[in-house]
Amino acid sequence: MVSGGAGFIGSNLVRALAEQPRISEIVVVDDLSTGSLDNLRDVPARVLVGSVCDPDVLDDALPGAASVVHLGALGSVPGSIDDPVRSHHANATGTVSVLEAVRRHDVRHVVVASSSSVYGAVPGMPRHEALRPMPVSPYAASKLATETYTLAYAACFDLAVLPFRFFNVYGPRQDPEHPYAAVVPRFIADALDGRPLTLHGDGQQTRDFTYVADVTDVITDAVVRRVGASDVVNLAFGTRTSLRDLVAELEGVLGWRLEVEHGPPRPGDVRDSQADCTRLRELFPAARPHSLRAGLVATVEWQSAARALSPV
Ligand code: NAD
Ligand code: UD1
Repeated sequence: MVSGGAGFIGSNLVRALAEQPRISEIVVVDDLSTGSLDNLRDVPARVLVGSVCDPDVLDDALPGAASVVHLGALGSVPGSIDDPVRSHHANATGTVSVLEAVRRHDVRHVVVASSSSVYGAVPGMPRHEALRPMPVSPYAASKLATETYTLAYAACFDLAVLPFRFFNVYGPRQDPEHPYAAVVPRFIADALDGRPLTLHGDGQQTRDFTYVADVTDVITDAVVRRVGASDVVNLAFGTRTSLRDLVAELEGVLGWRLEVEHGPPRPGDVRDSQADCTRLRELFPAARPHSLRAGLVATVEWQSAARALSPV
């Protein structure tokens, strides 16, 4: 069962899982609050439209499930500042609801999505999992709840868990039009429309940009091999790119200069982010990430093709 399977990472994951001969059935639970059924077109999955907070939906989804990958959440930092209770409900309460359903249906393997945003204001780079989390947004606090509830359930019940901290994930099927769209799809859409790109703050903030297939390959391997861990694991490959360098890389991919404007710094924004990937490498030594250039090329191609298909 994949919660949030109609979203960006989820729909890429469902496609990757569907290629695995050892996986016989995939069930998606998604309330379509930010995801879309279009993302799952032509994908062999049973889709249940409903919330992870609804036990009846989970009781329909979970019988017979060998693994749960819990991605369903409201993923935006600014969105959580606009409505902290909504973020808490979907992300923290939603996780407890999934874990309770896992217990009811005796599922023994759970992968969950936490976030590098939990590091927040903690000093020290790269971000190692042993650093004390210091969230600076309600979203980050809700993700800390996601991972700690998952570890607590593993300690109390017979359950293998793998709480991943994703960093800034980008790639095909990431929505560029959403009001809280992430920086990579937003910049590509602005560039293709000929609009200036808006840098919040000085543009020197850094992210460990991670191509979505690199994330879904690791999760697929985790599901197939039933990998568990006794603590959280960063899922990124230890790169550090400033937004200014991201703009330059995008100019290289597109072959033209991009106009940039500066906006005010965003409340709740993390300044710098880079993963220590030692734990990830121990658990998944075969993982080979794409370069930022290769990932951006594939993402620009996808956005260009999606535009060509959509009515004007
Ligand atoms: P997304 O918004 O595209 O996907 C999230 C999906 O969850 C959507 O399809 C949405 O409709 C669904 N959803 C939201 N609330 C739900 C609920 N109550 N019940 C059922 N479904 C619900 O975002 P994404 O980028 O694919 O994020 C997937 C997960 O990864 C999230 O948990 C997010 O917090 C986490 N994450 C993402 C990133 C990133 O860079 N994209 C980084 C760190 C963590
Ligand atoms: C993203 C994810 C979040 C995840 C986190 C982990 C999304 C929407 N958010 O948050 O779920 O937990 O990674 O690292 O996927 N920016 C601009 N101009 C823009 C848009 C953004 O300058 O037009 C800046 C932001 O202020 C921020 C940086 O770009 O400094 C990255 O922003 P964004 O992609 O929205 O995501 P994160 O805050 O990193």
